[in-house]
Amino acid sequence: MVREVVNNLIVDLSGHYVDCTFGNGGHSINILKNIDSAGSLIALDKDIESVNIGKDFAASDERFKIIKSNFSNLSMLLEKDSIDGILVDLGISSSQLDDSNRGFSFRKNGPLDMRIDQDEGLTAKDWINESSKQEIEEVLKHLGQERSYKKITDAISKSRKIKPISSTKDLVEIILSCKTSRSRKHPATNVFRAIRMRVNQELKELSKVLDDAGKVLKLGGRLVVISFHSIEDRIVKRFIQGKEGNHGESKFSLIGRKPLKPSFQEIKRNPRSRSAILRVAEKVV
Ligand SMILES: C[S@@+](CC[C@H](N)C(=O)[O-])C[C@H]1O[C@@H](n2cnc3c(N)ncnc32)[C@H](O)[C@@H]1O
Repeated sequence: MVREVVNNLIVDLSGHYVDCTFGNGGHSINILKNIDSAGSLIALDKDIESVNIGKDFAASDERFKIIKSNFSNLSMLLEKDSIDGILVDLGISSSQLDDSNRGFSFRKNGPLDMRIDQDEGLTAKDWINESSKQEIEEVLKHLGQERSYKKITDAISKSRKIKPISSTKDLVEIILSCKTSRSRKHPATNVFRAIRMRVNQELKELSKVLDDAGKVLKLGGRLVVISFHSIEDRIVKRFIQGKEGNHGESKFSLIGRKPLKPSFQEIKRNPRSRSAILRVAEKVV
């Protein structure tokens, strides 16, 4: 949804922008193409591999800078009322998903890691082997919206008593012993997503970056968020409506009556974009 992002984010061609989730740089490149020589773009990512890609870009464009940081540090990195537009494209990139060593994919065997920032935090292996049954049940039920959450939690609890669950294959086998697929969706989809969201504290980080956007955006500045999960989208929507989050003195107004979704052609080209939901807001106070 590159065109939609660029059209909604850039309010001033000489403005200062932040891409909170650099990934492979697809959005950043297009933002840079659409601002003039007085404009600038700061990108963040907490994955060192993305940051290294960004450093190569930065060497060839002095309007661009990349910082290895959690986007929840936004208000520590930037001055109050200094930014014209902030983009947050949630989740993980295709290259992270496809790298078996990262442990995000149920389709590839690899270590059960799932940390976006591999320099810190609990791995999925630590979490699944050490958490209480109650916590696992809650994560699978609420973050995963997984119907078989009780059955899967029981199977995890039994399995880890015999030997630690340490690979993606171990986890997929446990899930497949509890449920079969009734649709084209892989039976492990919800559980993997829920554990990734828990390990990386994704909802907490999302709430913090929204609060910080209220501080660092200028009046009239734009906030563009792409989410992939109804729980995330609800947080974004309620934040914009002023019903959730810590706004301080700021207020946002929703741009467009409905959230934007990828076109049929985009979904055909990139099936992983099918659940993307894009919301745009403007800081009005
Ligand atoms: C969906 S990808 C972004 C793709 C990017 N827009 C592009 O065009 O290539 C999400 C990126 O956000 C990063 N990320 C996720 N959570 C983060 C956080 N809390 N702080 C900083 N980066 C984060 C991931 O490492 C990943 O590279």
